[in-house]
Amino acid sequence: MNVLIIGSGGREHALAECFARSKQVNQVFVAPGNAGIAKSFTCLPLLDSDSIINYCKTNPIELVFIGPEQPIADGLSDKLEANGIKVVAPSMFAAQLETSKIFAKELMAKKSIPTARYKVVKSIEEASVVIAEFGLPIVIKEDGLAAGKGVAIAHTKYEAMQAIYKALKSSCPEPANANSGIILEEYLQGWEVSLFAFTDGRDFTSTIFVQDHKQLLDGDEGPNTGGMGAYAPVLEAECYRKDIEAKIIVPTLDAMQELGYPYKGILYCGLMITKKGPMVIEYNCRFGDPEAEVLLPLLETDLLDISRAIVNSGMKNQAVKFKDLTAVGVVMASGGYPATYGTGYQILMPEPIPEGVYFSGVAEDGNGLVTSGGRVLCIVATDNDLSIAKQKAYLKQATIHFKAETYRTDIGGRINSIPNMEN
Ligand code: AMP
Ligand code: GLY
Repeated sequence: MNVLIIGSGGREHALAECFARSKQVNQVFVAPGNAGIAKSFTCLPLLDSDSIINYCKTNPIELVFIGPEQPIADGLSDKLEANGIKVVAPSMFAAQLETSKIFAKELMAKKSIPTARYKVVKSIEEASVVIAEFGLPIVIKEDGLAAGKGVAIAHTKYEAMQAIYKALKSSCPEPANANSGIILEEYLQGWEVSLFAFTDGRDFTSTIFVQDHKQLLDGDEGPNTGGMGAYAPVLEAECYRKDIEAKIIVPTLDAMQELGYPYKGILYCGLMITKKGPMVIEYNCRFGDPEAEVLLPLLETDLLDISRAIVNSGMKNQAVKFKDLTAVGVVMASGGYPATYGTGYQILMPEPIPEGVYFSGVAEDGNGLVTSGGRVLCIVATDNDLSIAKQKAYLKQATIHFKAETYRTDIGGRINSIPNMEN
């Protein structure tokens, strides 16, 4: 059995390693992968759906696992299925849970799934009325995929207006174009956690809870990023699992079935734990990055068995077990990220490459690995104890250097409690 993973970041590196642990898997390929992943796995330069399909048809690839959202949004899962190739990833339609925030919000409203109150607005005038109704702070979201940059939280009316102008302009560059509008959302107070479900569209099993650290700087300061580190499991969230499954995951999967597009693959629920209980902030149609880098090393069950169950509607009888350990992952990023940053800086690290290093924005310049992206790598360590896992991750991190490196020093150290405020 050979597996092909689509994508080029730390998440795909962790997926490759996870599949490689399976005794049933002969070879793991990653397309396109990156120079860091290529140190351990065969990376293939397949850059579009036609070349991926062609490769799968002419080589013994039994399963494709799509890591990132963009190829799913572009319909790669549908195209592979249409060609008789087994794939773990939802259809383009079902992926609207991530690709259209308006689709997701309407689905949640229809099923009374707990989420922030929202209104879709198409003009400044409409937006002013909603700000008056919801109050401040207020959350402004663009509709489509925005790589973590489509959300603004405004604390003053001026900030809100600036963000609304910008969002309206990018969702509707030409005033004459039909557009779906932008979302204004009530601001939720609480703490964030993510839960993933492996699902065949009808049955599912949820994973351990994971916590991402989205802001750039220690203490959750600075701009939002794709994620600067993560840890799992988040034990404080366990008491909400039943509620999340019954009030969020089950009705979400039911709604997709009722629409005639069962959701198959990984469902990512980004949640806010509020005074009123868990509420959905967002859905994603894939594993998170860096969440996958801490989740997958803890997965005890063979990922190939789970993937087969997803593809063959067998999740009802598929156990999913995690090791009784904690994992902490620290992202090292290029100075300047998430805005502009330099690339091509040599990455100094021990040889052989330490275990638990997952490569994202790296390339090869003839002399070795160099930086090539915003988030460069994620360093993961596990232990029975969260504080020791954290120490181990930072000790390993201290052995890796590149020019203008930046990272948070407080991954895994957040206190998860609900602020004592209104709503
Ligand atoms: P999203 O892209 O929807 O996940 O939003 C990015 C980040 O913005 C989330 O991880 C939250 O930290 C924050 N956020 C989004 N929606 C809300 C909300 N309604 N209330 C408070 N924070 C939010
Ligand atoms: N780390 C957040 C995401 O993958 O969307």
